[in-house]
Amino acid sequence: MPLSAEQRQKMALYVRSYILRSAENFGHHHADSRASARWTHTLNVVKNADLIMNGEVVGDDLRTAVEVAALFHDIDHYTVQLMYHAARGAETARHWLNKEGYDPDFVKRVEVMIRNHHTDLDDDIPVEEQIAEIVSTLNYETRVLMDADTLDKIGVNNILQSVMTMTQNGQRLADIAQELASGWPLQRASLWRQLLTTKTGQALGEERYQFYEAFLQQISTEIAFVDPYPSLTMTQEFAQVAQSIPKKA
Ligand SMILES: [Fe+2]
Ligand SMILES: [Fe+2]
Repeated sequence: MPLSAEQRQKMALYVRSYILRSAENFGHHHADSRASARWTHTLNVVKNADLIMNGEVVGDDLRTAVEVAALFHDIDHYTVQLMYHAARGAETARHWLNKEGYDPDFVKRVEVMIRNHHTDLDDDIPVEEQIAEIVSTLNYETRVLMDADTLDKIGVNNILQSVMTMTQNGQRLADIAQELASGWPLQRASLWRQLLTTKTGQALGEERYQFYEAFLQQISTEIAFVDPYPSLTMTQEFAQVAQSIPKKA
């Protein structure tokens, strides 16, 4: 059953303020901007889930359950260590949805998706094996949520987010450009792309990866990230500039 506008609004307000309050309470640096970026990520995941489900054959119940799970999926991003955020988030969602009187089967479905949306990849096991494990152990709707989450790590949002974070850390434009073009961001995106397991998720991931790759290549074409002129010492700089500044008459 689709959600009403009021239900959606109430849910979104709860999740948004929970994310903001917990980022502040747990003393994270730049709590405001981090919480706002996390909320944007949440909305992107809802949007990505919608795009995936538009390309697949899904019923209304599944659509609603995935939408709610997407809204809640990172609610506990700031309250616990990353490896526990899915389990804690599943509990927070269950409490709230139960309190609001949602159907117990629906609540269970949402809870299972949130609990399983996060997988820590193990560097010692081949990626293909880990993907096969995901496909064989997680249900389809959980994989829709996972794909929607993963898609936000490939493409435009990832670029904007990296630039914002590096700017907050005091990096200059040329350094940011060089880091983006250094190769590892593309390798990481390639790994994310491999993790997609729904047909539409994979197609969207391919599209975003192509864009991301072209964007990163263009950085090397357009940005002069190496300054070829060695710096002067302070004294040399002072002497040179002092000579060229016109004297007062
Ligand atoms: Fe997450
Ligand atoms: Fe997420």
